[in-house]
Amino acid sequence: MNILFATSEAHPLIKTGGLADVSGSLPRALKAAKQEVRLVLPAYPAAISAAGKLKLESDIVLAGSHTPVRLLQGWLPGSRVRLYLVDSPQHFARPGGPYQDDAGKEWPDNAARFALFARAVSAIAMNRAGLDWRPDLVHCNDWQTGLVPALLACRAQRPATLFTIHNLAYQGLFDWDTFTGLKLPQEWWSSERLEFHDQFSFIKGGLVYADWINTVSPTYAREIRTAAFGCGLEGLLQYRQDRLSGILNGADYRVWNPAKDKLLAQTYSARTLERKRANKQALQRAFGLPERAGFPLLGHVGRLVDQKGLDLVIELIPQLIQRRLQLVVLGSGQPELEQGLRAAARQYPEQIGVRIEYDEQLAHLLEAGSDLFLMPSRFEPCGLNQIYSLRYGTPPIVRHTGGMADTVIDATDEHLAAGSANGFVFDEMSGEALLAAVDRALGCYGQSQQWTQLQRAGMASDFSWPRSADDYLALYQRLLDDPVEHPDCRRRGVRNVQAEAVF
Ligand code: ADP
Ligand code: GLC
Repeated sequence: MNILFATSEAHPLIKTGGLADVSGSLPRALKAAKQEVRLVLPAYPAAISAAGKLKLESDIVLAGSHTPVRLLQGWLPGSRVRLYLVDSPQHFARPGGPYQDDAGKEWPDNAARFALFARAVSAIAMNRAGLDWRPDLVHCNDWQTGLVPALLACRAQRPATLFTIHNLAYQGLFDWDTFTGLKLPQEWWSSERLEFHDQFSFIKGGLVYADWINTVSPTYAREIRTAAFGCGLEGLLQYRQDRLSGILNGADYRVWNPAKDKLLAQTYSARTLERKRANKQALQRAFGLPERAGFPLLGHVGRLVDQKGLDLVIELIPQLIQRRLQLVVLGSGQPELEQGLRAAARQYPEQIGVRIEYDEQLAHLLEAGSDLFLMPSRFEPCGLNQIYSLRYGTPPIVRHTGGMADTVIDATDEHLAAGSANGFVFDEMSGEALLAAVDRALGCYGQSQQWTQLQRAGMASDFSWPRSADDYLALYQRLLDDPVEHPDCRRRGVRNVQAEAVF
């Protein structure tokens, strides 16, 4: 199959979260399964420099602009996956992150940036970008690529489209004026199409027009059809439920493997767990914490946003402190969470360490050096960190939601007896429930045999990509075998306007 994989971030080119991990490893797994998969991203400066050798492949002129966009071609580092970077300096050549400036403020022209990206992806998809290549399917990811299925829907001989929701909470919403500036079909401004409560919604482009929608765990695929998790889109997702499924993300064990990880102080395996200790010491040093004999070390790494539930942890600091443990947090995000964590570290410098930054190496050390990984997310489409912590022999404490519910097996007596337990799970989103789970974990930590069994069960669990990649391949095949037409394309008029607006 010829597959075009469109994404706004991919490790090791550029990364803000798990989307990059998936986009850097799923295409590689598809390539290993002998598919012709090509990756396309915006040409951010960081991506250009990480990509190494690039050549100019073609110039394309897109609708809404007279300046041609350059397509650069190279390879996803360390792989045989062909890479295209959509180079429009006006949109992408700037310092800062892919969506925000260095101060954490959204770029004011994000709608124009990702509309341009979607137009470029659509041009490639229709073999109109001078590449002499026609994909059978375009795999789109998150709102930044949401316009692609909409732009392609009514094109004759178009590729199939799959839209993957990595996080429904980010929808790409913009006002009417922004919408009109994008020069897209006016009829898209309707609640059946891309309008959402008087705003223009990029993600609805994917949810309304893609041939199929999937999300990154079976549990989240069910949750998003309910009001509690649907972010207002649950009605639409219920309407499309016969074309909505969940495929659990894989983990890239070439990058996340404690036996080979070059970013650790000391590598180790399930048989040499005592070597984990050197990582704990290095982690304590990195966070300026003293060694405390017998104190378990709890760790968290992630974007500091409401989703991740760190507000619960901040609320519980006084109780956690009494429990003779240490806590380290690595992350950045919402100012109030950053401040709350910094204040806790100032108040309890011997027990709490906080680093407000993004640091790849430290993230690996934290997975290895912590005794327990804390992840009290309100919702979690998949969650990769708990999967990594399992592999690093660092049992996770998670809430029963999304992909965490699909990967972590609670240490109940029954699961312990069966040898399947690999972590600690709580249900209710409350400080009390989290604390009860922490207490259970601390109780287990004190019993060395049971603890080692739990660590080893986690290290043995296998969430590697080949299985998930097979599920994607089966889904792609199904879409190719069973093409669909969106009802819009049967109505007169819409087709013409759309065709004009595409490129
Ligand atoms: P999400 O995609 O919601 O951020 P995931 O658990 O799927 O959550 O993936 C998060 C990824 O981002 C992991 O690879 C994690 O190590 C990484 N990450 C998040 N914050 C940081 C940080 N501050 N420093 C280094 N890596 C980080
Ligand atoms: C999102 C989700 C996370 C998921 C990741 C990759 O950012 O928040 O749960 O693991 O995407 O799919």
